[in-house]
Amino acid sequence: MKFGHFDDSAREYVITQPDTPLPWINYLGSEAYFGLISNTAGGYSFYKDARLRRLTRYRYNNSPLDMGGRYLYLRDNGTGKYWSPSWMPTRTKLDAYECRHGQGYTVITSKFNGIKSSTRYFVPLGESLEIWQTTLTNESASSVDLSLFSAIEFCLWDANDDATNFQRNYSIGQMEIVDEVIYHKTEYRERRDHFAYFACSEKLTGYDTVREDFLGKYRSWNEPEVVESGTSVNTEAHGWQPIGSHHVKIQLKAGESKQVIFVLGYQENPKDDKFDPPGSQIINKKRAKAALEKYLKQENADKAFNDLRDHWTMLLGKLQVTTPDEHTNRMVNIWNAYQCMVTFNMSRSASYFESGIGRGMGFRDSNQDLLGFVHMIPERARERILDLSATQLKNGGAFHQYQPLTKRGNNDVGSGFNDDPLWLVLGVSAYIKESGDWSILDELVQYENETGSESPLYEHLQRSVQYTLDRLGPNKLPLIGRADWNDCLNLNCFSDTPGQSFQTTTNKDGTVAESVFIAGLFVLACKEMMGLFEGYKLKIQGSTNFNLQPSTFYSEAATEMEKTVWAAGWDGDWFRRAYDDFGHALGSKENSEGKIFIEPQGICIMAGLGVDSGNAVKALDAVAEHLATPHGIVLQQPAFSEYYLHLGEISSYPPGYKENAGIFCHTNPWIMIAEAIVGRGDNAFDYYKRINPSAREEISELHKCEPYVYAQMIAGKDAATHGEAKNSWLTGTAAWNYAAITQSILGIRPTLDGLEISPVIPASWDGFSAIRKYRGVTYNITVENPMHVCKGVATVTANGRQVSGSVIRTQDGEKEVNVKVVMG
Ligand code: GLC
Ligand code: GLC
Repeated sequence: MKFGHFDDSAREYVITQPDTPLPWINYLGSEAYFGLISNTAGGYSFYKDARLRRLTRYRYNNSPLDMGGRYLYLRDNGTGKYWSPSWMPTRTKLDAYECRHGQGYTVITSKFNGIKSSTRYFVPLGESLEIWQTTLTNESASSVDLSLFSAIEFCLWDANDDATNFQRNYSIGQMEIVDEVIYHKTEYRERRDHFAYFACSEKLTGYDTVREDFLGKYRSWNEPEVVESGTSVNTEAHGWQPIGSHHVKIQLKAGESKQVIFVLGYQENPKDDKFDPPGSQIINKKRAKAALEKYLKQENADKAFNDLRDHWTMLLGKLQVTTPDEHTNRMVNIWNAYQCMVTFNMSRSASYFESGIGRGMGFRDSNQDLLGFVHMIPERARERILDLSATQLKNGGAFHQYQPLTKRGNNDVGSGFNDDPLWLVLGVSAYIKESGDWSILDELVQYENETGSESPLYEHLQRSVQYTLDRLGPNKLPLIGRADWNDCLNLNCFSDTPGQSFQTTTNKDGTVAESVFIAGLFVLACKEMMGLFEGYKLKIQGSTNFNLQPSTFYSEAATEMEKTVWAAGWDGDWFRRAYDDFGHALGSKENSEGKIFIEPQGICIMAGLGVDSGNAVKALDAVAEHLATPHGIVLQQPAFSEYYLHLGEISSYPPGYKENAGIFCHTNPWIMIAEAIVGRGDNAFDYYKRINPSAREEISELHKCEPYVYAQMIAGKDAATHGEAKNSWLTGTAAWNYAAITQSILGIRPTLDGLEISPVIPASWDGFSAIRKYRGVTYNITVENPMHVCKGVATVTANGRQVSGSVIRTQDGEKEVNVKVVMG
C-alpha cells in the first residue's frame, strides 16, 4: 500500500494521507540553521548543533507519535470549531490533505469546512531563520471569521540539559514581547549572546508565551484552551516552559484568499553590543528587526523560495541520468543526491531516530558521506576534510566524532576504532578525483587542533596509513581496536554489566583481536595513496618538512597485506571477518553462528583482492547463497542466537536486527560495487533495486519508513518483521548507493586523470544517457548497448574523436563534450 506518490517533475514526494506508518520527514536549511519537519508539521529547529543550540522543543519517543512542531490552529469563530491544518495535533478529519516534501522545503495543504490552507516552510539560503508562508482561501459560499494561531515550544538551547535539568530550567526562562514580536532570551543575561525571535506579518489579536496558560491545565496540544475559547491570554513567561503563539483574526469573503507569514529566527549579537540601551538587560534587536523587515514581506519570501529552488536545480544539475528504470532515475536525479546533502549537513546527529544529543560529526561517517555530495559542493567537502583532519591524533588515529559547533574532537562515543583514520584517505582521494584540486594536500592542518602542530594534509594521510602498520596482530592482520566499521563488533569489550556502554568499555588490552575488514580497507587506501603520491610528488620536489614515504612504500605495503589476507583472511569460499581475543577466526566455516559476514566480501573485492584469481566471484556467490534476501543482503549468517561476551554489542541485538544479521543497508552497495568489478551488471543492479526506497514504495506498510530516502536498516530474514525499515535519513547508505549506481553501475566515474565512463549494467538495457558536469565541462553522455552485454566498451568517441581507454580527455577550451559509448 502507498501513502502518496512521487511527483518527479516537481522533484517532490506527495503524501496524501496524514497517518503514514511513521512520521515521514524532511529537512529545512542548508548551512547553519536547520530544521526537521514531518508530514504533519512535527519537528524542531536548531542552529548548527542539534544538541547545543536547539531553538524549539520536540518530544522524542512520545505517544502520540510526533509531538512538538511548527503548529498552526484554525478556528471558525462563527461556529467555534477548530482544527490543525497539518492534521496534527488535533487530528481532526480533514476534507483534503496533501504534504509535498521538496529539497529544503515542505508544503502542507488541507481543506476543512470550506477553508483551504496551504503552508510552505523553508529556510532562505544564507539566513538563520525559517519562514512559514500560510495562504488561507475561503472556498465556501459565505464569509468566514477565522482565528489563526501559531504555536511552538522553545527549547532552552542545550537539548540534553533541557530534557533533564528541571530544577534549574523551570526558573530560567525569559522572554520579551516587543512590537508584537516574541523574543526568547533564556540565559541571554549571562553567557549566551544569542536569542530566538518569532514574528507574524499581521497585526496580532493576542499572543501567549506561557505554555500552561495556552494549553490550559492538564491539557494537551490537541485541545489548547486558548484555541478552544478563541481568546489569547497575552502572557509573558517567567521560568517554566516558554512557548510562542500568535493570534491573528482574518475575515474572508467567499472566494477570498489571504497570506500570513510567520518568521522564526536565531540571532547572535556581538558581546559588546548585546543590550540596547547598553547597560540595560534588554536585547539589542536591530539585527533581528532587519531580517523581519525583509522576510515578513511576501515578495521577499517568494524570491527567497525561488532562489532556493534555483539553487537545487543547479546542484542536482551536476548529474542527471535517463535510464530504462524510473526508480533509478528519480533516486539518482533527485532523492539520493538530496539525502547525500542532508547526511553531509547532519552526519548522524539529528533525525527522527537520532536525538541530536547522542552523536556529532563522525570521523569515518563524514569521510564516507563525502562520496555522495562532493560533486555538488566540492568547496564544502574541502572544508569538511580540513575540519576532520584537524582533529586527527598525532599517532594517526582519530577521535570518533567532533561537535559541529566547536569543531573539536571528543571521545564521548568511544575511541580507538582502528578503521577510522583510513577513511580520511578515501575522502581526500574522492575530493581530488572530483575537483582536480591537488592543493589540498599542501594545506597546513593541525593535529588535535593544537597550535604549532600544523603539517601538510598529505602527512596526515601518511600517518593514517602508518597507524594501521603500527598495530598489527598475531596473524599480521590489523588489530581491530574497539571496533572497525562495524561499531558493534566489540572484540575487546567483554562487558557483563547491564547498561555499560559498548562504545567506551574495554576490558582487554587489544593485542590479539584482528580485523580482515581493516586489512581490505588498508589495501584500498594504499592503492589510493599510490595515485595521490604520483600527483603529489611532482609538486613538492624537496620542499617538504616531513619524511615523505618513498614511491614504492604503498605498493609494497598493499602487496604485503594482500598476502596476509590470503594466508589468514581467506576461508576457502569467502573472506573471513576477524580473529577474536582468543585468536579464533570469525566469519569462517569453523563457526556455528556468524559463519559469513558481508563486510569483508565487499571491501576486499573493492580493494581488488581475488578479482584475477576468481576468488572474488566465489565470495560473491557465497554472498548470494547465504546472505541475500528479497529485501536486501543481511550482514551475517547465521544470526547470533545469544549474547556472547567476546563479541560484544553485535550479539546484543535480537536476531535479524541491526548488526546482528539485519540488512544493514550501508554494506549492500559494497556488494553492488564488487559485482560491478567482476562484471556482473545484472547482479549489481538487482541488489541495487532490492533496497531502492522508491522501488519499495508499493510495500510502504511493511517498509514503514519514507519511500524517498534510504534507511540504515531493514529487518533481516531472522526477524519477525523481515522487510521493515528503521533509522531513515542519516546513514552511510545514501553516499555508498549513490557511488554504486552512478560510478560503478552507470560507470560515470571521476578519477585523478579525468572522467571515466565504464558501465556495468543489466544486459537487458538498450543503454542510457546522462549529463555530468565535471571540472567545468559538461559531458553529454550516450551509452548504447546493441549486443546486450553487462560490461565492455567497444568504442568511445568524444566530440567525434575516437577515445582510447575509458577516461575522456578534453581539449583546451572545450566546455561541452558529447560522449558516445558503444558497449560490446
Ligand atoms: C552506524 C554508524 C557507523 C557504523 C555503522 C555500523 O551507521 O554511524 O559509523 O559504521 O553504524 O556499525
Ligand atoms: C552504530 C550501530 C548501532 C550502535 C551504535 C553505537 O550506529 O548501528 O547498532 O548502537 O553504532 O554507537
